[in-house]
Amino acid sequence: GLCDAPNYPYMNRRYLTTPIYYATGDPHLGHAYTTVLADTLARYYRQTGAEVRFLTGTDEHGQKMQETAAKRDMTPIELADQMAESFEAAWKDLNISFDRFIRTSEPEHIGVVSTVLERLWAKGQIYDDVYSGWYCVQEERYWTEREVGAEHLCPDCKRPVEFVEEKNYFFRMSDYQERLIQHIEDHPEWIVPGTRRNEILGFLKQPLQDLSISRPKSRLAWGVTLPFDPDHVCYVWVDALINYVTASGLLDPDSGPDQPGFADQGNSWWPASLHIMGKDIITTHAVYWPTLLMAADLPLPKQILAHGWWIMEDEKMAKSVGNVVDPLALREDYGTDGVRWYLLRDMPTGADASYTPERFHARYDELANVLGNLASRAISMIVKYRDGIIPEAAGDGLEADIASTLSAVTGHMDALRVHDAMATSMDLARTANGYVDRREPWSQAKDPSGAEDLDETLASLARVIAVLTALFLPVTPQKMTDLAGRLGLKSVPTLDQARSISLGGLRVEKGAPLFPRVDR
Ligand code: MSP
Repeated sequence: GLCDAPNYPYMNRRYLTTPIYYATGDPHLGHAYTTVLADTLARYYRQTGAEVRFLTGTDEHGQKMQETAAKRDMTPIELADQMAESFEAAWKDLNISFDRFIRTSEPEHIGVVSTVLERLWAKGQIYDDVYSGWYCVQEERYWTEREVGAEHLCPDCKRPVEFVEEKNYFFRMSDYQERLIQHIEDHPEWIVPGTRRNEILGFLKQPLQDLSISRPKSRLAWGVTLPFDPDHVCYVWVDALINYVTASGLLDPDSGPDQPGFADQGNSWWPASLHIMGKDIITTHAVYWPTLLMAADLPLPKQILAHGWWIMEDEKMAKSVGNVVDPLALREDYGTDGVRWYLLRDMPTGADASYTPERFHARYDELANVLGNLASRAISMIVKYRDGIIPEAAGDGLEADIASTLSAVTGHMDALRVHDAMATSMDLARTANGYVDRREPWSQAKDPSGAEDLDETLASLARVIAVLTALFLPVTPQKMTDLAGRLGLKSVPTLDQARSISLGGLRVEKGAPLFPRVDR
């Protein structure tokens, strides 16, 4: 089938994507969550030896862009340039390891959008008709009479919708309803979590409408011109979704609709292994996108992960609500890795979570008091009792805990339960602190016959810390690189290396607290 491109080496090449962010406002904690989640998975896959391509970027066309730019006395491209820079800088500050930052205003992307549209047109998948109905500029989408109700408000953002009557081009989305349902049923893990999968299957119980894919230039000039009608631009969501194909290198932006698409399967990153996004945009990704791909005869993404919302006082954190938290400001107090840890540890992947400064602080304390404390006491004792040299001893005092943690964490990560992986990793640090308390190395040090026991305690602690650097690397990469260095390692071990690493003879180094106390 479409999903099973020949010999696609699924496990060893991973192509991960975030949504491309609207270039109408600055990044906030909600955007940061999607991006940090994707980054953590990207780093995890790299650690398991996979070749990874990690894509993010900005969504720069559409009516909202046009209007926001006009309000600020800017041209849309000036606004887009400014915002793309702001997102890219924010992601660098949050240590996001993206390989490609795509902008929908790039010529390469515009070429690929044209190619896809031409192909759909040539295959009779697009027709024109008159559309009349309700349009929400904020959400960039049409709503039915029933959906907007008597008040004519957008069901999503509650703003007044506009009545429009215009020529539109439509994609024959309805033709693909059965195939899409079949695909979802045949691939139970295609949409995770299961609640979102059920939501999409529920949505597909109603007859699927055809999708309007154009806007008349008289109303909206800022977009990709339709290759078959110069008076219309492509609907921003269709334009935006295609970014995933553009950045994969699958299609040549300069050639026509006949290019095979499968031709360079070997070099291209398509199909994506995983599209990561918030639950608010699951329908576009799990319905519009796969049906467009089916119609264009292109393979479907392997998996879609929809996460929950950050909520503040019962409301979604959003620019339009005016309650956004700036992740970059939190970095000043808690550091990049503190922000990353909070986001991933506090939100169960897939569910909603409520942001509060108290919870943020409590999560940070966990990093400082459990992981940071373990590292600092173990390293101090190696310095104090063994002149800073890790003893040559078996160091297998926590072997069973390490083995069970590694397999549990791998299982959680592979099932995309990132918060469970984090919690389980932190539990190992807790167990190791308990081990210190139980072994009482300070008593072993006083007892001349306790030298071997003390060697074993210290070697076991060094080993568990090396394992923890591997476990925490995806979420707190800077701090773990720092910690591995303090253990005398050149770099953080991979999970596989961590299983059997030997540290005897390495020289440790004390340093400033990994996670300094934050007063509040
Ligand atoms: N431009 C579209 C995506 C096109 S992808 C082909 C878009 N952009 S967005 O900037 O509005 O949002 C992007 C991401 O940020 C989504 O994954 C969305 O869920 C996430 N978040 C925005 N606010 C959020 C919260 N309050 N909480 C969690 N994630 C949130 O949609």
